[in-house]
Amino acid sequence: MTAAELAIQTPELEPSRTKRLKAATREAHEVLDGFIMSAKPFESRENFGKFVQTQYLFHKDLDVFFFNQTLDGLLPDLKGRRRLGFIEQDLADLEISTPESTDARFRQNDAAFDLPEALGWLYVVEGSNLGAAFLLKDAAKIGLGETFGARHLAGAPEGRGLHWRTFVAALDAIELSEAEEGRVIAGAESAFRAVHAHAKRTMA
Ligand code: HEM
Repeated sequence: MTAAELAIQTPELEPSRTKRLKAATREAHEVLDGFIMSAKPFESRENFGKFVQTQYLFHKDLDVFFFNQTLDGLLPDLKGRRRLGFIEQDLADLEISTPESTDARFRQNDAAFDLPEALGWLYVVEGSNLGAAFLLKDAAKIGLGETFGARHLAGAPEGRGLHWRTFVAALDAIELSEAEEGRVIAGAESAFRAVHAHAKRTMA
């Protein structure tokens, strides 16, 4: 068995936190991708709009994290990574309403939120911008792109890869106890579950 295969089967042996997160959520990601693609988001602007509504609900869930000072001190350019504003513009471009308000998963002054859990959620939302490169290509087929309708899928000005690597380096460097480590993974799993629930609500 290769080291990579071993890491997939026993994620806790993988030395990089981000790689452990990827291994632990691989299946959740595959199931989510499968669900989203089966709803044919690139078949029409109407369908794509439903995908943007899913994104809206997900990004709204964790929006408070982008304004949190502790997280801001741990992760580079946290405010610059926020994409909810672009999602709102995409919905306006597409003339689609924001989905009816549901309670965001995390709220201002929510003392209940846990730092490791927040890191897991932020891994998922940041990581989703990597896959966004592929989605942006498909969005072009229905005339949408980074200046209209699919703004939130755009890469960072310095390049998607570099933007991701600076995030990964910071996330991997945070010192956590074993118990906290488990809560980062649980946070990422719960973020994937939340996206899936939003997709079922807006895209099914
Ligand atoms: C809102 C829904 C989605 C979320 C939350 C999400 C989440 C993620 C995360 C966390 C990663 C980073 C994995 C890592 O390297 O650690 C990722 C990467 C990726 N995602 Fe998604 N994803 C979503 C939708 C999709 C869809 C619909 C597709 C296409 C079918 C897709 C394709 C990819 C691909 C190809 C990568 C790897 C990109 C690379 O390594 O360059 N994702 N996604």
